[in-house]
Amino acid sequence: MSLFDAASRARENAHAPYSGFRVGAAIRCRDGRVFAGCNVENVAYPQGTCAEAGAIAAMVAAGERDIAEVLVLADAPDPVPPCGGCRQKLAEFAGPETPVILAGPEGERARMTLGALLPGAFTRQHLERGET
Ligand code: THU
Repeated sequence: MSLFDAASRARENAHAPYSGFRVGAAIRCRDGRVFAGCNVENVAYPQGTCAEAGAIAAMVAAGERDIAEVLVLADAPDPVPPCGGCRQKLAEFAGPETPVILAGPEGERARMTLGALLPGAFTRQHLERGET
């Protein structure tokens, strides 16, 4: 299935009664498998989760950890990029060259890389500690 179709299908199931803003996300892994997610809001607002987080959780639960491509689908005048937190979540499993496609209901609107969206990312190298 195409990333767009997977995100579109997931977006139909978005639970967004508070914002009314439905988002679908889809990830293609290096082995070709596609995983999708939608935003799941909660009456306790901060407990809501983004579509990208749902797609990542589905990917990891299926045993995959290598993101090759990401698509985010929402319906707004401007192309909708992943939020800051989701950029960091994606960077756990994707490199700076990984394409991130921003789509609207009619199809692809913009294409960027994760590195452009999250310059200076905090990575596992930063966890290396000196002798103290
Ligand atoms: N949202 C996502 O699902 N992904 C993003 O990258 C941007 C924001 C959701 C969260 C919330 O349910 C709604 O969009 C409005 O912020």
